[in-house]
Amino acid sequence: MVMAIILPNVLNQFKSMVSSSTHALLLLLLQLAVAATATSSVAAAADSPKPTPWPLQFHSILFANYSGSLSLIDLWYDWPNGRNFNIIQNQLGKLLYDLEWNNGTSFFYTLDSSKECRSAQLEVGILRPNWLEGAEYLGQETVDGFLCNVWQKVDFIWYYEDVVTKRPVHWVFYTGRSIHVMTFEVGAVLEDAKWQAPVYCFEKRDSQTDLKSNKVDGGYLEPQLEGILKGSMQL
Ligand SMILES: *[C@@H]1O[C@H](CO)[C@@H](O)[C@H](O)[C@H]1NC(C)=O
Ligand SMILES: *[C@@H]1O[C@H](CO)[C@@H](O)[C@H](O)[C@H]1NC(C)=O
Repeated sequence: MVMAIILPNVLNQFKSMVSSSTHALLLLLLQLAVAATATSSVAAAADSPKPTPWPLQFHSILFANYSGSLSLIDLWYDWPNGRNFNIIQNQLGKLLYDLEWNNGTSFFYTLDSSKECRSAQLEVGILRPNWLEGAEYLGQETVDGFLCNVWQKVDFIWYYEDVVTKRPVHWVFYTGRSIHVMTFEVGAVLEDAKWQAPVYCFEKRDSQTDLKSNKVDGGYLEPQLEGILKGSMQL
């Protein structure tokens, strides 16, 4: 009988002990969680992912969309030889060659009977392999079905890189030109003969244009040049 009276008290005491220690434990866990979150967000800011530098040489097939004008671009990036090539097939349109040298000379030409060529002299050469350095990390986003880290290089480009493979997947210029990377062949090099601008690029005529008047039809590099000229590239 005595036991029966005491027991509920003990039980109640025990229960309240348990419940208060549970509260204490929960509180502690909560504090730990808050602290951990704070620490990890500080850590995340300190070592947020950096864009992978471009390989010194690669070939990419790019799908480009500029306000609904579509093109396929063969990009041959060749840093050791100081050259970069965009061979641009506009949809049901011109095949355009955009050849850039690291000394700042660029040639834009066709290889058909129209024999068009324009050249330009820029202050800067081709993009450096580390041209994305200093870009601001924006977090992760799924693009074209690939989970990507996303960066923005001020006023110039949004750049999406596959989280797992570190390959570029997508980028968008501030002009709205949108690029989707279809292939990415690291180490591929275009044979030297293909880097020769046609003879009519060197004929004496009024083909030397300064950049402001240089309208390369649906050209791919234009925004890059503008971006560089705007001084936003910090190259
Ligand atoms: C191209 O971009 C435009 C927006 O500028 C969009 O409406 C259109 O669907 C895109 N086309 C393709 C084939 O991605
Ligand atoms: C830059 O290099 C290319 C390729 O060698 C050449 O055709 C061009 O004339 C050079 N430009 C200058 C300004 O030296």
